Amino acid sequence: MLKNLVKNLKPSSTLLINETSRRLEAQGKKIYKFGFGQSPFKVPENIVKELKDNAHQNKYLPMQGLSELRNAIAKYTSEKKNYDYKSDNVIIGPGSKELMFLLHVIFDGEIILPAPSWVSYAPQAILGRNKIQILQTIRENNWFPTASEIEEIILKDQKKNYLLFLNSPNNPSGQICDNLEEIASIAKKYNLIILSDEIYSELCFEGVYQSISNFCPEKTIISTGLSKWCGAGGWRLGYFLVPDSLIEIKNMINVLASETFSAVSAPIQYAAIKAYENDHSNYINKSRKILSVVGNYVYENLKSNKVLINKPQGGFYLMPEFLNKRFNSSSEMCDSILNDTGVALLPGSDFGFDKKQMIARLSFTDFNGQKFMDGIKDNEKIDYDKINEFAPKVVEGVDKLKKWSESI
Ligand SMILES: Cc1ncc(COP(=O)(O)O)c(C=O)c1O
Repeated sequence: MLKNLVKNLKPSSTLLINETSRRLEAQGKKIYKFGFGQSPFKVPENIVKELKDNAHQNKYLPMQGLSELRNAIAKYTSEKKNYDYKSDNVIIGPGSKELMFLLHVIFDGEIILPAPSWVSYAPQAILGRNKIQILQTIRENNWFPTASEIEEIILKDQKKNYLLFLNSPNNPSGQICDNLEEIASIAKKYNLIILSDEIYSELCFEGVYQSISNFCPEKTIISTGLSKWCGAGGWRLGYFLVPDSLIEIKNMINVLASETFSAVSAPIQYAAIKAYENDHSNYINKSRKILSVVGNYVYENLKSNKVLINKPQGGFYLMPEFLNKRFNSSSEMCDSILNDTGVALLPGSDFGFDKKQMIARLSFTDFNGQKFMDGIKDNEKIDYDKINEFAPKVVEGVDKLKKWSESI
């Protein structure tokens, strides 16, 4: 009854770990939810109000998205980037994930995926029937590919089209790509298209975000949305910024949008205008500051001669590597950690690592972000006492994990 193409696909592991954690909790077990990555913060009040005020909006909206929203996004982005985006360069989708899926469906060529990369890229590429080229990365390069590694793949067959997925700040590594300019030079040289997944871009801990689109805007599709910076994952609003040079891609995504989801929910689109027109820098700065100190706390308290970690640079995640030989796979290791300590992690194999590499993704968002935000003043330095007060499960979970790592 099922197509061979889909038979081996499983539910996305990030959503699955959420359900497993909930089930164990319902059985009375204390679970440290470091598996699922979701913003711990509430949607800013002015945007929530806008959604309430627009609950009556009941018409289907244009398939590419509401023009006022596309205008607001184009203006917001052009002020930050080296390209003059117009409303026509913006496509609104029900989450950026759906737009990426449509991109896989329409693209004809090979998909270059750095490992590690986000869990959904590979299954979506399979559904799009394109060949995947996995590019293993190393800790010393911040877990990003070098330009020559990308070039090597392209040189094997220059006649093909290539689409590179680049996600910085990265899920799962929490690292920022610092060789964008050299990757951009490869894109220009070989007509490589880049999907720049910038969903965590507002959450760079240093504050200044560099996009590959600053170096090769004409080759870059920017993918982002409300989910991470605005605490609105469940609202399902994402968008692509497609430059004029890739207009064919934009037009075809529009066609597929019109034949699948039609248009994103109208009240959400009206509310999202305020997300891009109003100034939310205070909210974003506070989110960034909290995530940065909590991430740093986890890093400082977990790293040891048995646990290797790169210091987190943005987003919600870091990626510990446990130096032990007791397990056959990272997923066996994560099961054991969950059973022994109640700490839920995702195995590195879900992100493209060899299952023998004892790597896991740790999401440090198991705390009430609103209480944390309300509990600190604008320019206050956040010390470890505050982390104990506002993120006690993170502190406890890290302690359990540290003890576990010492015991094996
Ligand atoms: C790297 C990455 N890209 C894209 C997404 C999907 O975002 P959206 O909610 O816009 O579909 C996520 C969400 O988990 C993510 O981690």
